[in-house]
Amino acid sequence: MTAADALLAWRDEFPILATCNYLISNSLGAMPRGVYERLRDYADTWATLGVRAWGTAQAGLPTWWELKGAVGDLIAPLLGAPAGTVLMHENASVAASILYSALDWDSPRRDKVIVTDQDFPSDVYTLRALLPAGMRLEIVRSRDGITIDPADLLAAIDERTRLVSISHVLFRSAYIMPVADIVARAHAVGAQVLLNGYHSVGVIPVDVTALAVDFYIGGTLKWLCGGSGGVFMYVRPDVLPSLRPRITGWFAHPQPFAFDLEAFEPRDDAYRLANGTPAIAALYAVQPGVEIIARVGVAAIRAKSLRQTAHIIARADQAGYALHSPRPDAERGGTVTLRPPHAYEVSRALLARQIVIDYREGAGIRLAPHFYTTDAEITQALDAIDAILAGGEWQSHARTRDFVT
Ligand SMILES: Cc1ncc(COP(=O)(O)O)c(C=O)c1O
Repeated sequence: MTAADALLAWRDEFPILATCNYLISNSLGAMPRGVYERLRDYADTWATLGVRAWGTAQAGLPTWWELKGAVGDLIAPLLGAPAGTVLMHENASVAASILYSALDWDSPRRDKVIVTDQDFPSDVYTLRALLPAGMRLEIVRSRDGITIDPADLLAAIDERTRLVSISHVLFRSAYIMPVADIVARAHAVGAQVLLNGYHSVGVIPVDVTALAVDFYIGGTLKWLCGGSGGVFMYVRPDVLPSLRPRITGWFAHPQPFAFDLEAFEPRDDAYRLANGTPAIAALYAVQPGVEIIARVGVAAIRAKSLRQTAHIIARADQAGYALHSPRPDAERGGTVTLRPPHAYEVSRALLARQIVIDYREGAGIRLAPHFYTTDAEITQALDAIDAILAGGEWQSHARTRDFVT
């Protein structure tokens, strides 16, 4: 079996692949069949153990109380994090809010947080809402709508910077930010760095330890095929003790069942940033996808992704479609964003043909093959774009105001 065939052998594990051309793993990774079984495990545990599930380990499964950390440990190797440094949260907005609430902002000489105009909106909304008085956002703007000029970003990071909060891979264009240089620059001036890794973990190699990044938040929703409710937050072990979360709860207490209203010194492990009762079902559902990605291996995923995304770009060039993603392999994540003429209408026509992609305003049609994508599916999608434009099919897909995909 060739290496390519070995990856395609996983296709049967993903039921949706038999029903459509699923090129949208940058938004919602395909569900592995194993989720049915793992959710049954959840239901069985609840049905048979009831409340005892919080404290009873079952064959191969941790107690419910330990699940946030146990699933974090499952994901940790995929981002180069040591065991015990990653905790699960419900979504990135909440995880980031908890982190912002835990930082020490009281540095008279530091009054700014650096973001970019290509970051995911929630990251900026939560920062704006939670920054203390006197702290300001500095937005580094893209010059081309695809990349952030590294020189612009590095120049913005100075002695007044408290935090750099940016995406590792930009969600519209899949530009990979030069994060090693950014972390080095930030640390040189005494600032910390939070990276949003939603579009990196599972599709490009990530090593938070080698990067020495302070904080890293990502999700299982997309490239890890783990569904919603599976967001993970890494905190560098030597930074953790300095965090004093103000968004918190009893899961962060070292002795939660003491129900002590007066004494609350948060735990000194990753649960320091925990809050209330987690959504346990989601923590079961995320596991099969993460396990498959770990078995397939990110190196193999990346090699295939580069080959297939390069092929998409070559086809787009032949047809003369504008490219809204970086050309160099080293700068391109798992998605290629194309802007053919009438891109929005073409995207709706593709969906009508069961070619599942999405459209992002200001960018274009995002195509995101994953390890389970065949070369034939890529050819089918590109042929379809050509045909939709040549035959005028796009005209019957007038713009509507939809909020989905
Ligand atoms: C870069 C990035 N960050 C965050 C999110 C989602 O954030 P949250 O987990 O708060 O819904 C997305 C989502 O789709 C995303 O692309």
